[in-house]
Amino acid sequence: MNLPNLLEAKKRNKDKVIKEFYKVNINAKGIGIGKSYYVKTYGCQMNEHDTENIKAMLEEVGFSEVDDYEKADLVILNTCSIRENAHNKAFGMLGRLKHLKESNPNLVIGLCGCMAQEEKVVDEILKKYSFVNFVFGTHNINRLSDLLLENFNTGNQVIEVFSSEGNIIEDMPVKRQNSYKAYVNIIYGCDKFCTYCIVPFTRGKQRSRQPQDIIDEVKSLVNEGYKEVTLLGQNVNAYGKDLDIDYTMEDLLNDVSKTKIERIRFVTSHPWDFTDEMIDVIAKNKNIMPYIHLPVQSGSNRILKLMGRRYTKEEYLTLFHKIRERIPNCSISTDIIVGFPNETEEDFNETLSLVNECKFDNAFSFIYSPREGTAAAKLKDDITLEEKEQRLYTLNDTLNKYFLESNQKMLNKIVDVLVEGKNEKGKLFGYTDTNKLINFAGDENLIGNIIKVKVIEAKTWSLDGEIYE
Ligand code: 5AD
Ligand code: SF4
Repeated sequence: MNLPNLLEAKKRNKDKVIKEFYKVNINAKGIGIGKSYYVKTYGCQMNEHDTENIKAMLEEVGFSEVDDYEKADLVILNTCSIRENAHNKAFGMLGRLKHLKESNPNLVIGLCGCMAQEEKVVDEILKKYSFVNFVFGTHNINRLSDLLLENFNTGNQVIEVFSSEGNIIEDMPVKRQNSYKAYVNIIYGCDKFCTYCIVPFTRGKQRSRQPQDIIDEVKSLVNEGYKEVTLLGQNVNAYGKDLDIDYTMEDLLNDVSKTKIERIRFVTSHPWDFTDEMIDVIAKNKNIMPYIHLPVQSGSNRILKLMGRRYTKEEYLTLFHKIRERIPNCSISTDIIVGFPNETEEDFNETLSLVNECKFDNAFSFIYSPREGTAAAKLKDDITLEEKEQRLYTLNDTLNKYFLESNQKMLNKIVDVLVEGKNEKGKLFGYTDTNKLINFAGDENLIGNIIKVKVIEAKTWSLDGEIYE
């Protein structure tokens, strides 16, 4: 049994990260034949992509996917720790699975993802959730076939979570959820240690994949007919800093651009590492989409400092306006946290004033949620939940006004849309280059193509359009 430890997870070593190749346990081949699986994913795109690897590894040993967890022989929860509500959702689901297992004792249940990296969670699983068959962390996804085999052979609860990250594993199998757009990991982990954030603990130190491995993956996606890639990392702008060679995120964007994939996106950017060269590369390459997610978190310098964000409101604004000037059609979205410990009314008003200045095209807003083990969790916090909820409500009201304004600017414009599918109303939907959701009538055989659509109506969270011939 390997149990997680947050203090260990916080350490950063100088060990060289080497590359290993994925290997399935050959004795596990066939253990899933005739059995079905269901994977429930919580959290960010990194988790969604991990699930794509998990699904492929399960299919490699014989399992087949079902779309209803109640019909599955194996259920895996790929969890998120970013806020308490993500925790609550996963534990709620474990409660439902417990009932299911009472009527179907052969049901196999696994838990993985960020929550598995938290000692408090694993403690609770050991004490109260003994019906969970196996637990693995974010650093050993590649070991799934070994852990399944161990559980199947011994019948024991198997817990294997490493606090410290291992090597980079290449060639993991992947079952992509979409045949037109794909996620490509470029950097794992995060060394920023913003005081509120659990990610540097659950995802380990910053490790960049080798440029050639990324470029090869994108090239093969192009060959398979993919139209769009999203380069993934907790902080993509730090890409390359840990490599022995002099190669940065600008270089990577330039090289990925040369693969001729039609659309390149990347998330998430930290303002600290966002260089002028990055802006130039995005402005210059037509297949790099004019859309940047640039989390600001707060508009108050006092709070930014307490958050350990390494920039001031003024520095953020300078970067923001530089991007807007040099990439004129660029849309910019952000993340904002309200109710950080001891955020005053004045601090909150500074956040509102920043929002009024930036007029973000889109944003995600959250109430601060203390995460055990992080520096901010030790801060005294005397703001009531009611007050925090009121701030979130006020913030969202302001944000929504600008989302609508941003969408209204698109009226009557002709936009390029990658058609992704049909919505429940029978309309086609897709995203513009600036990452706006647009719905329009059209034939299903357009799915997977990039087509021209004219914007005819603007709503707060989406656009309506018609196909432009
Ligand atoms: N509480 C609330 N929001 C958080 N985020 C990260 N950690 C926390 C937390 N403890 C938000 C940040 C980040 C986004 C992914 O989640 O805004 O950018
Ligand atoms: Fe993703 Fe972070 Fe949530 Fe983990 S904790 S799933 S890295 S958002």
